[in-house]
Amino acid sequence: MKRSLHALILAAGKGTRFKSEKIKVLHTLLGKSMLQIVLDSVSGLKPEKIHIVVGYQKDSVKAETSGDHINCVVQEEQKGTAHAVLSAKSVLSKEGGEDLLVMNGDLPLIRTETLRPFLKFHQKMNNSLTFMTAEPENPFGFGRVFKTEKGGFFVVEEKDATPVQKKIKEVNVGIYLFNIKDLFRALPKISNKNKKGEYYLTDIIEIMSFGEMKVGKFKTGFREEVVGVNDRYELALAVDVLRKRKIESLTANGVTVYDLKTTWIDFDVKIGGDTILYPSVILEGKTVIGRGCKIYPFSHIIDSKIGDRTKVLTSTVIEKSTLEKDVQIGPFTRLRPNSILKQGAKVGNFVEMKNTVFGKGSKAGHLSYLGDSEVAQGVNIGAGTICCNYDGETKNKTIIDEGAFIGSGVELVAPVKVGKKAYVGAGSTITKNVSPGSLAVERSKQIERKNWARKKQK
Ligand code: UD1
Ligand code: CA
Repeated sequence: MKRSLHALILAAGKGTRFKSEKIKVLHTLLGKSMLQIVLDSVSGLKPEKIHIVVGYQKDSVKAETSGDHINCVVQEEQKGTAHAVLSAKSVLSKEGGEDLLVMNGDLPLIRTETLRPFLKFHQKMNNSLTFMTAEPENPFGFGRVFKTEKGGFFVVEEKDATPVQKKIKEVNVGIYLFNIKDLFRALPKISNKNKKGEYYLTDIIEIMSFGEMKVGKFKTGFREEVVGVNDRYELALAVDVLRKRKIESLTANGVTVYDLKTTWIDFDVKIGGDTILYPSVILEGKTVIGRGCKIYPFSHIIDSKIGDRTKVLTSTVIEKSTLEKDVQIGPFTRLRPNSILKQGAKVGNFVEMKNTVFGKGSKAGHLSYLGDSEVAQGVNIGAGTICCNYDGETKNKTIIDEGAFIGSGVELVAPVKVGKKAYVGAGSTITKNVSPGSLAVERSKQIERKNWARKKQK
């Protein structure tokens, strides 16, 4: 019969080694907080509830973690990992679960797939405690694992270990499975007589081993997953692993990624098959890219939707915008939030848009600013067109109707409308609406003085 499982994530500590104003577990990796990443992989085990021990900056941590099956318990003072577990005692006793997964909140690389066999093993062995161990490349900072003479185990923390003990390669990962009743029977026996003066959860391993309870260890082979992120260098190491993992899953689904080293794709980004990412592309947030797209170098896309077969040329920045199918954008284009490029639109070099709908098949090839505007389909925007949207107080709208032609170097002083199939002559400053089908030119007459240059030289 399946036993009921609860989970407890320890996330109350400040993370002193981060040297940050912000609590460690709220730092992000690929657009997701460390805590959320841990919550996601623990959720994969489908526990009845996940309890989070919060303390330092508890309100920000609580705000980050909402959900029906998530519950926060407060550890007012951070006196060590055992003390953190103890603060959840009354909540957990009330819940009446059987097994409890306890996990440090700073283990963002652990996957559900690594936790699952651990849980299976614990339940099959019917242990009071099973703890996960590994042999990482560098055991520095971890608690080292030792066997007692009677076949039990104990852990010595890095700070308390002798030089000889430090040579031991097998380490405590910081993930434990307890029988809840046995846990709270043994927990009060932990003391704080150690170098840090903290209540170490790891001491429970020895206490349970001697207390006639069944303690087992589960050694995982996925040693690259056990990195505990204690400082920002370890954060960088973890980011690198997650980044490659994300690229691996995308490539497995038919996305081409040419450069493993320089491509950055956030956790939640989705990309369709046969899309190609060139080196140095950054895709952030909830970006969704369709099928058969080409994203060229140095493009930076944030929280945007890119339709099928769209080409994003070099050094383009797109934020909170939507590009429909078969669009071409860039090089050096910048879309600020709320821009929509309709199907087949073409937007080129040094064009900036903000809060603009740009119609089907319309073109803006060079050096323009379109802000707060509505451009219908089949419009041509000449080089150097500017929507003068701001009058110093409010933002005003420019509307350009179907098939209109805006010559080069035009200023459209909003609010203003250019009618269907109208023409605006190059160099005009348009302050009045242009009626459909007409030509508007606003320019002073060109003058010419014959032989002027020669006279000047004399
Ligand atoms: C811990 C283990 C160590 C193990 C390592 C794996 C202990 C004593 N040591 O050491 O054996 O090898 O993890 O990465 O457990 N926390 C609280 N309240 C507290 C103290 C800590 O919630 O009072 C939380 C922290 O926010 C953190 C987690 O517990 O998420 C682990 O604490 P940390 O100080 O990082 O432990 P390590 O020194 O890494
Ligand atoms: Ca740690």
